[in-house]
Amino acid sequence: MEKIAYVNGAFVTHSEAKVSVFDRGFLFADGIYEVAAVLDGKLIDSASHLARLERSVGEIKLRLPETLERIEAIQKELVARNNLVNGMVYLEVTRGADTGRDFAFPKADVKSTLVMFTSEKDIINAPSAKAGINVITVPDIRWERRDIKSVALLAQVLAKQAAAEAGAGEAWMLEDGKVTEGGSSSAFIVTQDDVIVTRQNGTEILPGCTRKAVVKLAEERQLRIEERAFTVAEALAAKEAFITSASVFVQGVVAVDGKQVGNGKVGPMTDRLREIYVEFAKATAV
Ligand code: PDD
Repeated sequence: MEKIAYVNGAFVTHSEAKVSVFDRGFLFADGIYEVAAVLDGKLIDSASHLARLERSVGEIKLRLPETLERIEAIQKELVARNNLVNGMVYLEVTRGADTGRDFAFPKADVKSTLVMFTSEKDIINAPSAKAGINVITVPDIRWERRDIKSVALLAQVLAKQAAAEAGAGEAWMLEDGKVTEGGSSSAFIVTQDDVIVTRQNGTEILPGCTRKAVVKLAEERQLRIEERAFTVAEALAAKEAFITSASVFVQGVVAVDGKQVGNGKVGPMTDRLREIYVEFAKATAV
């Protein structure tokens, strides 16, 4: 059976799912997106993703065509219509389809475009969760508002392609000698004295929803957390490294640029945080 997408008020098959060539998402990457995980047919950490969506659209003065409550209801209906058990819901909202290519915002009567689709992924049992991944490093060539979850992802496309060509699972982006974040994930290390280190939120990184939950869950368990930037040298001297995102949850990093991190295996802190996160995710799923 063909999968179903949501496009501007209608549930349609993927082959029928279309937007205009004048859509500003297509012409200018003038749009915002979100990716939320689905476990056992339920949305994971939904309130956090919706709050970030609201913030991102506000930062670029884009109006959502539906309320957050309605957006969540549509996501749930889409999950149900696709019989999705484990995977992700992708959501994109753009400044709509005007009739030409004016850079400035269109007239008020142009409605934002809202698109959603689902994809299947068994995040819990992904083989890389046990084996860990290698990461490579690349320069962070992105713009200065990385806190906005913009669909302008060319820098990440190039970074993740370089990773794929090198046989790595993620690219860590570097700025001023420090890791900002992964191409589509937040970056963490665990120091030799068990301090969990991840870059502080700000305009240099996306405020990851998984990052936020992991930091909170770790703090609640009296684990030591430092929110600061770290270097590749620190990562290589660390006990463990890992990444977080809606599409991997907590995922061990066992090598950076071909050099082993810790003992080259997914570490105990990473495993523990993954377990704690999955427990939280299931308990708060909607
Ligand atoms: N990416 N940093 C960047 C640059 C990201 O693109 C993402 C998520 C994250 C992690 O955020 P979260 O924990 O809220 O998923 C950090 C999504 C999964 C993607 O682009 O597919």
